[in-house]
Amino acid sequence: MDRTDLPIGIFDSGIGGLTVLDAMARRLPNEDLLYLGDTARVPYGTRAADTVRAYAQRVAGHLVRRGVKALIVACNTATTWALEPLQAAGEAHGIPVIGVIAPGVAKALALTRTGSVAVIGTQGTIDGGRYTAGLVAARPDIRVHELPCPLFVSLAEEGWVDGEIAQLVAERYLAPLRTVGEIDTLILGCTHYPLLSAVIAQTLPQVQLVDSATATADAAAEALARAGRLRPDDGHRGRTSFLVTDNLHRFTEVGTRFLSQSPEPVELINLTDEDARAFAPPASVQGVAL
Ligand code: DGL
Repeated sequence: MDRTDLPIGIFDSGIGGLTVLDAMARRLPNEDLLYLGDTARVPYGTRAADTVRAYAQRVAGHLVRRGVKALIVACNTATTWALEPLQAAGEAHGIPVIGVIAPGVAKALALTRTGSVAVIGTQGTIDGGRYTAGLVAARPDIRVHELPCPLFVSLAEEGWVDGEIAQLVAERYLAPLRTVGEIDTLILGCTHYPLLSAVIAQTLPQVQLVDSATATADAAAEALARAGRLRPDDGHRGRTSFLVTDNLHRFTEVGTRFLSQSPEPVELINLTDEDARAFAPPASVQGVAL
């Protein structure tokens, strides 16, 4: 099959990556998308770097074995800990691998006027410091304030994205950012946080929000164009299908809050050792300290 006909593989620890999938479907409506939510191992945000790397490698391997023309790591924690080895494997296999951090960094750099940027994400994403590294590499004088907001994940999955509880949690997490000088840009560095945009904007009205999902879809479209992998405009209407590693029912139910429709068709799968081996990085990269 011509490689432009293959689907784009998108994966996340579970449900949150559906925000990226949604942005991808809007940005590239004639592409087929294959989403894998690793619901058996979610959350990634509280796990050690090596664990996330091993999980991500297995998931990516499964998608590659099914046949994808590019891989989107639609999880900020997986991008934090695993993007480098996945990109090394991608180079060896001729598959572009795109993470969610660099696109958010680029958008924040374009937006900030004060040079003071805040980043919120899971504990793993904040511990990894990838946003700070990316921002400082591009603009050494930038001031970055990173903050973990783990409860936002549960609020988004519960559907408590507005009202008193969401406001209280947002105030508790974000109030300290008001006293840090001149922050004008806030990166939503977690898949779930776009669902809480309204309450976050209400809590920090002077700040512009960077949604990694739309930034990633734009970056993916550019990367696919560069690699000559975009599907020609042949009138094809993109199809989306879903894979999960556990609790298909919950994925469908909660996923409906993240997409404008129910995430279907969805298939329950097991990840195997063969999946883990299928997209291993070259030996020189395996031991890299990320
Ligand atoms: N998808 C994760 C992220 O963007 C959030 C959920 C999790 O902790 O697995 O970091």
